[in-house]
Amino acid sequence: MSNDTCIEFKDVVAGYKDFMILNNLSFKAKRGTITLLLGPNGAGKSTVLKALFGLLKPRQGDILLDGVSVAGSTQKALLAQGIAFVPQGRNLFGQLSVFENLELGGITLGMKTTHERIPEVLEFFPRVSQRLHSPASALSGGEQKQLEIGRALLLRPKVILIDEPSIGLSPIVVADVFKLLRKLADQGTTVLMVEQNVKSALKISDEAIALESGRLVLQKPASELLTDPNIERLFLGGAHTSAASAAATAATA
Ligand SMILES: Nc1ncnc2c1ncn2[C@@H]1O[C@H](COP(=O)(O)OP(=O)(O)OP(=O)(O)O)[C@@H](O)[C@H]1O
Ligand SMILES: [Mg+2]
Repeated sequence: MSNDTCIEFKDVVAGYKDFMILNNLSFKAKRGTITLLLGPNGAGKSTVLKALFGLLKPRQGDILLDGVSVAGSTQKALLAQGIAFVPQGRNLFGQLSVFENLELGGITLGMKTTHERIPEVLEFFPRVSQRLHSPASALSGGEQKQLEIGRALLLRPKVILIDEPSIGLSPIVVADVFKLLRKLADQGTTVLMVEQNVKSALKISDEAIALESGRLVLQKPASELLTDPNIERLFLGGAHTSAASAAATAATA
């Protein structure tokens, strides 16, 4: 293994009860890069993130972080090793204040360290930092997503797993979120992102991998995929385009 590999899936088989979702999945992600995980609905993209975050134990194969197996580790251990997960959807405590939501993000750090780190995180989010004492539910959708990312950053994670951050956000806010992820990667954080907003996500990603039925069907540099004439047919033709998902989110909000 080259020593710039941060995340490695090795022949991972994982699923829910009797359903096997990931089928001998193998891939590597380099340190300080953004890897974009693509594929149709139900392909297993979120399952990859959940497996890496310990929400699902592989039946076979192994998951390595910096060359060390983390398959089957507890979430507490994974957080301590620097893996942060920003799941799909809204994941804040809406009635608690922005500040309290941040404090909860530091629960494994202790209050003293958390309070020391909150200002460093808020530097990334000037608008959110002016609303520290508002209930989280009073922030705009984009500000809430930024707060979720901020809460993850409190851990100074070496890996950020982020699932469909753009859902429900306006293009300008999506661009802000993507810019932030790019900045974090350039500072050495490894980002593994699921995103249906394929074209904009490819522009800020380094590598793209695509799954179909839990199998790897493609891995190539994001820039190559971006100029691939088949991209429309491959990834943008499905019903679940970003516009469709944004509309669906808006309809259920
Ligand atoms: N908790 C669960 N129990 C049983 N099956 C599940 C569970 N979570 C997901 N699945 C199934 O696993 C498969 C893969 O789901 P996953 O959420 O990883 O897909 P995805 O690629 O993220 O799809 P989407 O683009 O719709 O988010 C789907 O068939 C889904 O129904
Ligand atoms: Mg998903």
